[in-house]
Amino acid sequence: MGHRKLTPGKLVVASHNKGKVREIVDLLRPFGFEVVSASDLGLPEPEETGLTFEENAALKAVAAANASGLPSLADDSGFCVAALNGDPGIYSARWAGPDKDFAMAMRTIEEKLRSIKAETPEQRRGSFVAVLCLAWPDGHQELFRGEVEGEVVWPPRGTQGFGYDPIFQPDGHDRTFGEMPSEDKHGWSIDTPALSHRARAFQLFAKTCLEG
Ligand code: IMP
Repeated sequence: MGHRKLTPGKLVVASHNKGKVREIVDLLRPFGFEVVSASDLGLPEPEETGLTFEENAALKAVAAANASGLPSLADDSGFCVAALNGDPGIYSARWAGPDKDFAMAMRTIEEKLRSIKAETPEQRRGSFVAVLCLAWPDGHQELFRGEVEGEVVWPPRGTQGFGYDPIFQPDGHDRTFGEMPSEDKHGWSIDTPALSHRARAFQLFAKTCLEG
C-alpha cells in the first residue's frame, strides 16, 4: 500500500497526556494544522492492550479517528533498559502507578539495576522509543518509529521535560533530557537530524506524509 499525504486541516492528537500533547503540538506547529486533542473532544481513553508500541499507537489512533471522523495522530512511547530486558518498555507509564509518580518509577529502575550490579556505562544502556500512528477514518494507517540510545544515569538530573527524562543521557551529550530545554531535547528542524525519539519518529512522519 502506498503512503498517503495528510492535507492541512483539523488533526486530532490522540493523547490524554498533557506533556505529550504539548510536545506534539510543538512539533506540528510549522505545518499549519488545526490541532485538537482527544481530551478537548472528550473522547474516551482506550485501554492499551497491545504488546508492542506499534499495536498501542494504532489502537489509540484508530479509536480517535473512528470517534471523531478526523485524521488522528497517536504516539506510544516508553523507556527501555537493556539490562532489564527492555523494561519498563510499553509499561513505562504503568510503572509510575496511578499517581504518576515518576520519582518512584526512576527509583525502581535504579534498584533493579543495582540488584543485578549494573554499574558501568555499558551495563546501563537505555533507549527511548516512540511510535507514531496516523489513522484516517476510512481505516488507512501509517506507522513511524523513532529511537534514541544513551545511558541510564543516577541520581536524576534536571527538572525539564517529563517522565524518565532526568535519568536518560543521550549518547554524545553531557546533559540528561531533564536538563535540556525542549528545543535541545528534540533538536529538530526540517533539515537537521532529530535527537529525541519522538522528534525522530515525527521527522519520518513529516517526510512521508507532510512534504511534497
Ligand atoms: P504512553 O503514554 O503509553 O505512550 O506512555 C509513555 C510513557 O513513557 C510516559 O508516561 C513516560 O513515562 C515515558 N516516556 C515516553 N516518552 C518520554 C519522554 O520523552 N521523556 C520521558 N519519559 C517518556
